[in-house]
Amino acid sequence: MSTVTIEWIQPDGRGAGRMPEGVVRLNGVVPGDVVDFQEPGRKGRNIEGTVTAITDPSPNRVTPTCPWDAQCGGCDLSALNTAARHNALSHMVAQALRLPESPPVVRSPRATGHRARLKLSIQEDQVGYRAHRSHDLVAIDTCEIARPELNSALAALRAWITPGALKGLHTLEIRTDGTKVAYCFESSRKIEREVRDGLGALGNVALNGKVIAGDPKLFMDVAGLRLRASPLAFFQVNLEVDELLVAFVVEAIQHNQGTRVLDLYAGIGNLSLPIANSGPSVIAVELEGQSIGDLKHNAQRLALPVTAIAGKVERFDPSREAFDIVVLDPPRAGAQRVISKLLRNRPRAIIYVSCNIRSAARDLKEAQKVGYTIQSVRCFDLFPKTRHLETVIVLSR
Ligand SMILES: C[S@@+](CC[C@H](N)C(=O)[O-])C[C@H]1O[C@@H](n2cnc3c(N)ncnc32)[C@H](O)[C@@H]1O
Repeated sequence: MSTVTIEWIQPDGRGAGRMPEGVVRLNGVVPGDVVDFQEPGRKGRNIEGTVTAITDPSPNRVTPTCPWDAQCGGCDLSALNTAARHNALSHMVAQALRLPESPPVVRSPRATGHRARLKLSIQEDQVGYRAHRSHDLVAIDTCEIARPELNSALAALRAWITPGALKGLHTLEIRTDGTKVAYCFESSRKIEREVRDGLGALGNVALNGKVIAGDPKLFMDVAGLRLRASPLAFFQVNLEVDELLVAFVVEAIQHNQGTRVLDLYAGIGNLSLPIANSGPSVIAVELEGQSIGDLKHNAQRLALPVTAIAGKVERFDPSREAFDIVVLDPPRAGAQRVISKLLRNRPRAIIYVSCNIRSAARDLKEAQKVGYTIQSVRCFDLFPKTRHLETVIVLSR
């Protein structure tokens, strides 16, 4: 048995502390905790341990308010108060990007009740989240981080479920734009007609992206624009924070006097359209079919100068396009193969929107090697109570 003081949070959510022998990484602890642990494994100077007791809890600990907190794998930093969580996560960003100080974090206007979409697993006649590092289902009946519209929709769903009603379905995303709710189901095999027809009673329903009943398209209001989002299109998780993030990106483009912007991983145009509405013309690249359909529809309806290109960013040839600023908002894996191609165009600025600071730091090293430096960094608390943070990094030549 050993004792360690937890000093920081790792990108995977584990708490870490230093011992003379190396760095200890532990689950379920937060910075400031003093803990006893057992050491089942060691790789070089990395010590993997299991906590046996928190002997002196961090003064920044709070008691989680969710009744499912202990079982559910969702809110992995619910035991840390907001200010301390922001400090820990922005410190992680500073470490990854080698910044001299931690960047500011923009708070979520809603500390709970902020999530505009919930991804739930379906197992037999139950819906819920997966338990932490497990396939076990935690059958919740409310979720404190979900918007109230989603909790009402979840209650309606639970009241509606009868034995066999969800047969063959494996995932459900319930989404809301604040006005309307859509139930988006997924299955990997053919669904019996009876089950399909039954789902219609829920209201606006899609199955594998296709409309089953009502109208499951939503409308996101961002930067004064109304954007259509189809069931398979990427839908922002925290609408209030997204608004603030979009404003920051638009401002960074204005600051760098961008007139022709390339927006990669564009989704429905959450960034492209507000950027175009502020002056520049935009070339937007997106892979997913319904998203690109929405992007084109939104640009046309708003009469904004956005050229939508369907396809993989990796296959896109930037040397054929003229742009002075590139915005990229890739999935968690990042955009490693893309950055070097972009650099050949020598854009004036690169604006990287990241949900995974490790992949962003890796990707941006390429740009830093050829003379780009970090102009500003801002973090956005899109995912309160969790280890996840959205970061916007602006680099210029
Ligand atoms: C994090 S979302 C960002 C969407 C958008 N920028 C926004 O602000 O809502 C990433 C988007 O990249 C798209 N995507 C994922 N991999 C891609 C690829 N290889 N090429 C093009 N688009 C991709 C996804 O479909 C999704 O719409």
